Parts: sequence; C-alpha cells; structure tokens
Amino acid sequence: MADGHVIACLPGDGIGPEVLDQAVRVLEALPLEVEIQRLPFGGAAIDETGDPLPAETLAACRAASGVLLGAVGGPQWDGGSVRPEQGLIGLRKALDVYANLRPARQGDIDLVIVRELVGGLYYGARGVRDDGTVFDTCEYHPSQVERIARRAFALAERRSGELVSVDKANVLDTSRLWRRVVDEVAVDHPDVRLRHALVDSFAMEIVTSPERIDVVVTENTFGDILSDVAAAVTGGLGLAASASLGDGGPGIFEPVHGSAPDIAGTGVANPSAMLRSVALLLEHGLGRLDLAAALDAAVDAVLAATPTRDGGGDATTTEFGDAVLRALEGSLATTGAR
Ligand code: NAD
Ligand code: IPM
Ligand code: MN
Repeated sequence: MADGHVIACLPGDGIGPEVLDQAVRVLEALPLEVEIQRLPFGGAAIDETGDPLPAETLAACRAASGVLLGAVGGPQWDGGSVRPEQGLIGLRKALDVYANLRPARQGDIDLVIVRELVGGLYYGARGVRDDGTVFDTCEYHPSQVERIARRAFALAERRSGELVSVDKANVLDTSRLWRRVVDEVAVDHPDVRLRHALVDSFAMEIVTSPERIDVVVTENTFGDILSDVAAAVTGGLGLAASASLGDGGPGIFEPVHGSAPDIAGTGVANPSAMLRSVALLLEHGLGRLDLAAALDAAVDAVLAATPTRDGGGDATTTEFGDAVLRALEGSLATTGAR
C-alpha cells in the first residue's frame, strides 16, 4: 500500500462494536488508502484469551498509524480477577499517550479538556494493608506535569489564548506540585492568560457558564469526571469524542463514553462520538484536516436531521451511519477532496 495507513480497530464490548462498525464504514468510504485491522480487546479478549490486551493486539497497535477504539467493560466481567478496563489502562501506558484531548462543543460552547492520561491515581501504588485497608495512590512526577502543561499551553495559543488549570491545591500535595509546574511552564507562554481553578467549583462552572471556558488542563481523575460533565452540557455522552496523543507514535481515538450495557444490542447507540473520534484521527493521526472537517460537518448535519434516541429522534445506529455516508458523499463531491 503506497501511502496507505493501517488503522488498528479495537471494537471491545457492549456498544463498542456497534459504533465502531459505523466508523469503519466511514473510513472505507473516504478517499484514503486505509487497511483496517480488527483486533480483540477488553472483555471480548478476556473471553477469547484470558487477557484484555493480548500481545498481538498491542503489537498491531504499536505498528499502526492510529488506533480506533469502541469501548470496554460490562457487568459480566465485574467479579473477575482481570477486568476489561485494565486493557485500556495498559494500552494507554504502553503507547504513552499522555495527552487526552476531549473537545465539547454545541451552540456557543466550544471547549477542550486536556486530560493527563498516564499518571495519577490510575497508575500509582495500590494494595491492601494487613488490617484490610485498601489504597490507591495519586502520584505525579514534575516531568509528567510539565509535558501535559506544554501541550495545553500550545493548544491554548492556537485557540483563544485562555487556559484554565484545574486542581485541588487547597488539599492535595500532587495538586500543589501541578500548580507550581504549570506556573513555571506559563513563563514560556506569555501570550496565554492562565487561570487556576479548584475542581469542585470548576465542575459547577462547566454546568453554569460553559460558553466562557476554552482550554482546560487537568490531571487524570479530574479530567475523567469533568469530561463527562462537559459532555452532558453539550448534548450527552453519545457525542463526546477524544484523541489520546503521545510524542510521535500512534494515537488512540475513542469516544468518551463507555460500553453502555443498558442499550447494548438494541441498535440505538449514537455513533457520533465514535465518528467524531474518526475525525480526530484524520486530523491528528493522518494529517487530513480537510477530511476531518468534512466528517464533522456531516455528523453535525445528521445530528440535526436524523438523530438517534438520545437526541430525541428514532434513527438506529446504522441509519445514522447511512445518513452520514450520504452527507459525506455530497460534501466530498463538492470540495473534490482527495
Ligand atoms: P457509559 O458511558 O457506558 O453509559 C452512561 C450512560 O450513557 C448510559 O445510560 C448509556 O446508555 C448512555 N450512553 C453512552 N454512550 C452512548 C451512546 N453512544 N449513545 C447513546 N447513549 C449512550 O457509562 P457506564 O454505564 O458508567 O459504564 C459502562 C461500562 O463502560 C463500565 O464497564 C465502564 O468501565 C465502561 N467504560 C468504558 C469506557 C471506555 O472504554 N473508554 C469509558 C467509560 C466507561
Ligand atoms: C474513560 C473511561 C476510562 C477512564 C475507564 C474505562 C478506564 O471512563 O475513558 O473516560 O477512566 O479513563
Ligand atoms: Mn470516563
């Protein structure tokens, strides 16, 4: 394949495979040479191999131009010794995709949460003490804060020049480190107006005045929670996409939402978050901003005309995908994108 891109596709569990199917249809319809590799991951991979991130899946992800991921998890794996989510945590670490961009936009809201993705509570020391106490530890090295801060400042420079760093510096030592390092990086970016905010009141700000927020940088756990809040004020989890990027190497492109066990198998999942994640892959992974813009526009048009149940309509996941393909065909024919 001359200028071909290999895309590692990890369907996962629940609605993951349902929304990923629409992503693959769209990718194959674009004027691009892509090779799609479907690989076992998450609960489905535990059932097949006992491992949520089998060695062949990881090797294929490392060699790919980008990773498209549906969602993992479900109640059937809750009691097991190994969980589907461990596959996701392991894959993010293995690819060192420390910068997780989670855009949220609708109407006059257009913000991006830059979530640190491979540190903090998810990766610190954990265990059980002799007395039965269970602990997870939040740990950050200054270099981990510095690299995510640099990404966030660079993004803020390309956007409005406003950056909010969110922490819990009134209580946590890791947050005080976070604040200090962010202030140090700020010296190199005099054009960016930096503000620090505490996570509890900032969660309220996302609900009450999201249109005043542009770029947000925060640590792993806060970013996880705040990005679902931001999704809620911009149309719901069915719309929220993400890009997880490192320094070179393949990124992971996945919806913010999970496997939605409550609607899995019913054909009503909204594939927009997944399709917008494809647009992020086109932009950040393949450098095709033209195709990313065309896909985003197609998704927006279909959200308005043919919504799924979460958007007040009755389109099925596949019907939504059909409509996006039709809208894309029209816009690609007009722009002549190659
Ligand atoms: P969830 O995001 O799966 O679902 C929350 C609610 O949003 C549900 O009511 C669901 O039906 C709805 N929803 C989510 N995506 C939707 C879509 N595309 N269209 C329409 N409605 C949608 O969160 P949860 O229920 O807390 O978690 C379920 C499982 O997913 C858990 O095992 C969790 O660990 C896992 N999870 C995985 C990821 C991931 O793979 N990246 C992310 C979050 C949660
Ligand atoms: C997300 C998810 C994951 C996270 C889980 C499934 C590990 O909630 O991508 O937001 O907490 O990062
Ligand atoms: Mn989450």
